[in-house]
This record gives sequence, C-alpha cells and structure tokens, in this order.
Amino acid sequence: MTKRTPLIAGNWKMNLDHLQGIALIQKVCWTLNDADHDYKDVEVAVFPPFTHLRSAQTLIDAEKFEVKLGAQDISEHEAGAFTGEISGAMLKKLDVDYVLIGHSERRQYHNEGNETVHSKVAAAFSSGIVPVICVGETLEELESRGQSAVPVEQTIAALSGHESIGEFVIAYEPVWAIGTGKVATPQEAEDVSKAIREALRDNFGEQAANSRILYGGSVKANNVAGFLQSGEVDGVLVGGASLVADEFSGIARYKKHIVL
Ligand code: PGA
Repeated sequence: MTKRTPLIAGNWKMNLDHLQGIALIQKVCWTLNDADHDYKDVEVAVFPPFTHLRSAQTLIDAEKFEVKLGAQDISEHEAGAFTGEISGAMLKKLDVDYVLIGHSERRQYHNEGNETVHSKVAAAFSSGIVPVICVGETLEELESRGQSAVPVEQTIAALSGHESIGEFVIAYEPVWAIGTGKVATPQEAEDVSKAIREALRDNFGEQAANSRILYGGSVKANNVAGFLQSGEVDGVLVGGASLVADEFSGIARYKKHIVL
C-alpha cells in the first residue's frame, strides 16, 4: 500500500469577499510557513467562492505559497448556454486542483442527486481536476439505515460507469454534524471510512481503495487529532473553522497534537 498524504481542506462556503479571502490565505500561509509546515507531508487546500479564485491564484503564484486551490462546484457541461455555470476548463485555467462535488448543501438546497453528482465527477475527470466527492447520511437515514449505508451507496453511484476513473477524494460528512457542533466520534468516522474503502476495493479495485477518505463536520483544532490518529481517515474537510486563520492552521498542524 502506498502511503496516503493527509489532506486538510477548507470549505469557505459563501463567506468573505475576495479581499478578505486574500488576507485569510496570506495569514494561513504565513503562519504555516513560520512553523516550517511541510506541505508534502500534510497537504493543505482552500476552497473559496468562484469570485475569489483569480485573486487567490495570483497571490499563491506571486508568493509561491504551497497551499492548493479548490472550487466549490463545477458545471456538468463543457461549455455553452448555461447561464451562471462555471466549467471545468475555466477552473483548470485558474490552477484549481480540487473541486467539491455533492456537498450536502448542494444535495439539499439545489436538488443535486446521485445522477448530477455523477455527471460533475465526469466533468472533473475530463478537466483534470480532482473531485472531492462528499457523501453522508442525514439524521433520519442514520436512524433508519445505520451510518455506513448511505455514504457507501453515494460513493458507488458517483464513481460507477465512468470510462476511466482518475484521482479522487471522498469526504465523509454526516449531514447531522455539519455546522451543528455535533461531531461524529473518531470511531464512527473510522468505521464509515473502512466501509467506504471496502466498497471502493470491491467495486473499483485496489488503486481506488487507496484513495484518500476525509472526515468533515464540526472539525476544530481541538478535535482534529482524534480523527487522524488511527490512519484510517486521511484528512478533514473543514467548514466554519477554515474561516479563522489560527484555527485552520492549527488543524493543518494536527500532528503536533498526536502522540506517536
Ligand atoms: P463545518 O462544515 O466544519 O462548519 O461543520 C463542514 C462542511 O460543510 O464541509
């Protein structure tokens, strides 16, 4: 098994204007650089709104920051009359490495089901952008079907039937834990992660099974280490805490809190 590089991903959602966004990236990177953060050991990525991407790209490029850039959505279409949509090619031109697909807020408020998620994953693959495929169960589904069934189902649906599967990341985010302060236990995150990995192996082979699986949902600097201790969870997708430079850089430096 090749070693998986942990990924610390910050999903800013619809927050900050682009100037505030630049200031946040600067603060995070300066803090991490001051602490001699090794980005090859623990990868760090930020996912600002579309309107910030060009400024973020310019800043990262000019300052030679090692943080990666992600987008929060991608159109399933290549180009054409799709008002308001942003294509994979447009994102790629802005040096976007990652794109969130199937976040529970998109599934819930924009009616994005497994079919849309599948098409967006295809669009990411064909544009050379790594999809971060978000999966997770609601409280209702947790009670009726248990914790792993829905995330496993959503993972298989997102990845089945592609001509070829490129690099991808799965983010397990229990819907009941997003922005609520309720956190899954490290054991729960580990169990679901194992179930997803097993499904990846059974359906798509060993290489897919060695993809990174993140946990997301109310992750903070003071609880991150628990999730990453076992080595089964390969990083975190952070919402609220990614908007606070000290918190987010603290999360990226989680190894400081792990007693090896
Ligand atoms: P949260 O959000 O960290 O604020 O719970 C996580 C997410 O939605 O990705």
